[in-house]
Amino acid sequence: MSITVKNNIFSIETANTLYQMKVDSFGVLNHVWYGEKTGCEMAFCQNYPDVGFSGNVYDAGNQRAYSHDTMSLEYSSLGTGDYRVPAIEITDERGVSSLDLRFHSYEITPGLFSVKGLPSAYADAADCKTLSIRLKDKFSEVYVTLNYGVIFDRDMIVRNACVLNESNGEIVINKAASLFVNLGTDDYECLHFGGKYAFERSAMKESITDGIKVFESTRGYSSHQENPSIILGRKGCTEDVGYCVGAAFVYSGSFKTEVEKDHMGQTKVVMGLNPEQFSWNLKKGESFETPEVLLSCSTSGLAKLTKNFHKTIRENITRGKFNLSSRPVLINNWEATYFTFDEEKIEKIARQAAELGIDMMVLDDGWFGKRDSDLSGLGDWFVNEEKLHGGLAKLIEKINAMGMKFGLWMEPEMVSEDSDLYRAHPEWVIKIPGRDPVRSRYQLVLDFSNPEVVDYLYERIADILSTNHIEYVKWDCNRSISDWYTPTLPANRMKEMPHRYMLGLYSLLQRINDNFPDVMIEGCSGGGGRFDAGMLQYCPQIWCSDNTDAHDRTFIQYGTNFIYPVSAVGSHVSAVPNHQTGRTTSLNTRGVVAMCGSFGYELDLNKISEEEKQVVIKQVARYKDKQPLIYGGDYYRLNDPYESGMAAWEYAATDGTSALIQGVIYRAEVTSLKKRIFPKGLVEDRCYRVTKRMATSPEDIAPESVTDEQSYTGKALMTGGILLDNYKGDDVAFELEIKLK
Ligand code: GLA
Repeated sequence: MSITVKNNIFSIETANTLYQMKVDSFGVLNHVWYGEKTGCEMAFCQNYPDVGFSGNVYDAGNQRAYSHDTMSLEYSSLGTGDYRVPAIEITDERGVSSLDLRFHSYEITPGLFSVKGLPSAYADAADCKTLSIRLKDKFSEVYVTLNYGVIFDRDMIVRNACVLNESNGEIVINKAASLFVNLGTDDYECLHFGGKYAFERSAMKESITDGIKVFESTRGYSSHQENPSIILGRKGCTEDVGYCVGAAFVYSGSFKTEVEKDHMGQTKVVMGLNPEQFSWNLKKGESFETPEVLLSCSTSGLAKLTKNFHKTIRENITRGKFNLSSRPVLINNWEATYFTFDEEKIEKIARQAAELGIDMMVLDDGWFGKRDSDLSGLGDWFVNEEKLHGGLAKLIEKINAMGMKFGLWMEPEMVSEDSDLYRAHPEWVIKIPGRDPVRSRYQLVLDFSNPEVVDYLYERIADILSTNHIEYVKWDCNRSISDWYTPTLPANRMKEMPHRYMLGLYSLLQRINDNFPDVMIEGCSGGGGRFDAGMLQYCPQIWCSDNTDAHDRTFIQYGTNFIYPVSAVGSHVSAVPNHQTGRTTSLNTRGVVAMCGSFGYELDLNKISEEEKQVVIKQVARYKDKQPLIYGGDYYRLNDPYESGMAAWEYAATDGTSALIQGVIYRAEVTSLKKRIFPKGLVEDRCYRVTKRMATSPEDIAPESVTDEQSYTGKALMTGGILLDNYKGDDVAFELEIKLK
């Protein structure tokens, strides 16, 4: 039984963790415990100090020690004497913001709850349960239901909140967190994933000190600058030992994560829609459901937490036939041609790629409208026959005849002012009447909160997909949103627009998924600007970053993979010197790094040497062979690239029979000891053979495989490590294959 209720205590058990809440004598829902399974009611840990200036709820009478300002509440509000970060904030018709939430009822239902119109975790009903606890304002008919969907094997709790207004007047929700979780008085460090365009999701570590830390996006999409996910680890938590908690928002719009260490030294995490860009009006009988958050806890270090998220996102978030299947190795023409191409150039790239074993040609930006640069054409989703004579169908036919699938780039949410769509429908863009809109990459954003706009785009995309044999769409989104205004909403509801935009986007993606199940969508936003568990429901993979430099990618992918599975990470080999950084890395290094994801190429393969072509053939074959292990194995970080001068990661078969380790040594060192790598996930008493593939210099693009004749026990390898050979040059990649003898 994963959920039990006894002595007013709610216990949620997963395979390795226990989450407990208690309804106290005043009907207030307290957070009691999140951590190891103890087989016990943990309410004895609660602590009620008498603290000056921390007020008491009225019905506590003279009990000065009973204060919401010091307690560990499960979902806090304004107006009951808690001055810390609240979970919920509403205003009623009198302008009053107080809510005094008390326990009302609960329900346990089979399966996972889901949120209408929003991406939601899913699972077999038999495997999961949902606990719904209903709270009610003591003084009005406002209800808040907290949902806890339990995915037992993954140590995962899916959270959200639902606000229902049954009072006679209208209320406005100004804030409604999806996640509010107290983590006690321990010292914590947090890992958040910040960055910028072309350097997304850097793993940033910070100590949690007194006060409030905010990690957020106000850009209308989840953003390059901060990812909607976070990990808090107790001091001393490492990859293999210690306590940590992670949360990932299943949402792609603006968000806010608050980490507060309060005046009692208690830490809490609050995650949800960003209140700066949100409000929602509820009339009598109406309700609002927040997006979901995935919450997990590991008491055995970060690697286990990562495993919980990887499995959940792959098997309970991402949907569709491509989710767990193998994915095509693709060639994308963006960095090969940018906007300058015609059908001959594309066919030539495709033909060469087909000869090297690549499965799919993806035609990037520039195939439609008057799109010769990023100044014009967005919105005109009609093929540009001056570039592609004979249109898409003819080109696709030729590419299919080469044995290649065909994929197409689109950026459906955007419009150029110089486009037929904008000229016909200037009222469809997000723009404030009487003010100049903000332009970004010369483009404006379409108003996806307006169903008419979304319907138009569905028809346009559906027409393209049903009249052409397209098997993949790269769905881009190349700017942040500003100028929030829509003629479709009254002034007092304008702050509903950012969330309504997301509802419009999700409805469009869902319609495409439902009606074109054979088309795989890859998410993209100027690289990985919208890399989140929300998008991953509709797109099994997302282009990780516009930065394709192999050296930088080891850092970007390191940060990305704390939460997101390897199969979700779009990753390509591109030309050197790299177009973003000017850095030159070897074809071997570029191949090894790009294999840690959904693999492809993004360069003109006609321009590489014959020797390099032979290497590409081997890389493609090798990736296809290893893809089941790379996607389905347990992923481990073997070191921290920020600290150790190298990146190394591993995929271990879940039954411990084999493992593949890959990595890059950043700088050659003279007269130093050989570097050592410690594999994980092997069976201690089984015997393994190790094959090394290590370049001896940057020029060595096809390093030989050398198998060690000696065999080693799993324990010997995991504790003694494997020595890496000497090498010369910077950014040299290596691979180690470990197989049962
Ligand atoms: C974005 C994407 C790139 C490419 C360009 C095309 O920047 O991330 O991969 O598709 O748009 O304009």
